[in-house]
Amino acid sequence: MPNNKPSEKLKVLGIAGSPRHDGNTDNLLRQVIDGASSQGAETKTVILSELNIAPCRHCDGCIKTGKCVVDDDMQWIHADLREFDRIVLASPIFFMGVSAQTKAMIDRCQALWVIKYVLKLPVAINPDKERKGFFVSVGGTKFHNLFQPAMATVKSWFTILDIKYVGELVFSGIDEKEAILRHPTALQDAFEIGQKLASVNKPE
Ligand SMILES: Cc1cc2nc3c(=O)[nH]c(=O)nc-3n(C[C@H](O)[C@H](O)[C@H](O)COP(=O)(O)O)c2cc1C
Repeated sequence: MPNNKPSEKLKVLGIAGSPRHDGNTDNLLRQVIDGASSQGAETKTVILSELNIAPCRHCDGCIKTGKCVVDDDMQWIHADLREFDRIVLASPIFFMGVSAQTKAMIDRCQALWVIKYVLKLPVAINPDKERKGFFVSVGGTKFHNLFQPAMATVKSWFTILDIKYVGELVFSGIDEKEAILRHPTALQDAFEIGQKLASVNKPE
C-alpha cells in the first residue's frame, strides 16, 4: 500500500526540456504544474536549457558508487528525481526523439541505473511511496507514430527511476511558437492532468 499520509504535501516536479522558452511544451507544462498546485501540491519546475548538464561520458565513474563523477547541475537533479512523488517531463519532438537537453539529462541517469541494477539499492528515497511519471510533448508534423520513439525513451527512463509511467499528453501538428495556445482544449486538458496527478490514491 502506498504510504502517502493525507497531511503530507505531494511533491510534483516539472522538467522543461525545450530550448524554446514559453513555447508549446513550456505552456503545457505550466498548466500541468498549475493544476497540481491547485490541489495543494508542492511544485517545482526546472528548465533544462538554463542548466549546466554535460552529456554522459560513459566513463563508468559511477559504477562502484552510483554517484556521477561529473560535477554539474545533474548532481541536485539526481536528488530531486529520487525524492519527488510526481515527475512531469515535457519535451518537443526533435528528429523523432526528445530534445538534446532532455536526452542529456536522461543519459546522465546512468548513475541511477547503477544504483538500481549494479548496487541493487532502491532509487527512490522513500521506496514505499507511490511515484508516478507523466510525459508531455508536441511535434510540428502529423507523422505516423510521431511520439512512439520518444515515449519508449521516457518509459525506460521512468523505469530506472522506479516511477510508474501513467500516461502522456501529446499534440501533433503544433509547430509555431505558442500554436498550442490556439488549440481548443490543450491547456485545459493539461491543467486537469495536473489536478489528477496531484490527487493521492485516485486512479488516472
Ligand atoms: C531541431 C528540430 C527538430 C525537429 N524535429 C521534428 C520532428 O522530427 N518531427 C516533428 O513533428 N517536429 C519536429 N520539430 C518541430 C518541433 O517539434 C515543434 O516546433 C514544436 O512545436 C516545438 O515545441 P516547443 O515550442 O515546446 O519547443 C523539430 C524542431 C526542431 C527545432
